[in-house]
Amino acid sequence: MRIDIATLFPQMCDTVMSESIIGRARKKELFELHCHQIRDYTLNKQKQVDDYPYGGGCGMVMNAQPIYDCCMEIIRQNQEQGRPRPHIIFMTAAGQPYSQQKAKELAQKDNLLLVCGHYEGIDERVIEELADEEISIGDYVLTGGELAALVVADSVLRLQEGVLSDPEGYQEESHWNGLLEYPQYTRPEVWNGKAVPQILLSGHHANIQAWRQQQAQQRTQTRRPDLWEKYPKENLETSKKKK
Ligand code: ADE
Repeated sequence: MRIDIATLFPQMCDTVMSESIIGRARKKELFELHCHQIRDYTLNKQKQVDDYPYGGGCGMVMNAQPIYDCCMEIIRQNQEQGRPRPHIIFMTAAGQPYSQQKAKELAQKDNLLLVCGHYEGIDERVIEELADEEISIGDYVLTGGELAALVVADSVLRLQEGVLSDPEGYQEESHWNGLLEYPQYTRPEVWNGKAVPQILLSGHHANIQAWRQQQAQQRTQTRRPDLWEKYPKENLETSKKKK
């Protein structure tokens, strides 16, 4: 897979993507990631990338031209590698809400181009011209799209083969199958007067699985009734089944 990020802060994105699990996988060349400076594509001497909004209002709006030219160069580079035109996503607070389901869908693509806005917004015409979709990572407003693009890149890249040491790890975690994850414990057996649930020490795999499934269901029901409502109830683990 190849991911390109078009941004006014390529160093910020590059630094985050060079650390920890994603950084190690990048070094191993399990995927390609490239960060591009939109400002390099301005045509004016001042390298200005934004201007006042038509119709007035506060803040500045990013110009269409440098974003367009930057994306066209990225598309060309992808095609030069024999890849298809990348799936182009604009990170905006007005986009569709991001989810694990969306991460799984994007993880199937060969190449993605994530475009980060800044200031008060992006000239709508370049979004219309290029975007396959607009994504929001939540109902709050960030100062720019970079953190959102990094969230999307991280959640998609960790699903690529070889990135996680234990591929089964992500099959049981929160949101993978529509439930929140069950509680986890590690040594010591008693900490601060609190003991680990006895069943986890039993070595009885089937009972442990059933307990975990029940915990996941209970948590989802109380913490996230919105997710619980969507969960297919034929999958329910009941205490009756356990016996
Ligand atoms: N840019 C500003 N806020 C954002 C959000 N919530 N999601 C994606 N991009 C954004």
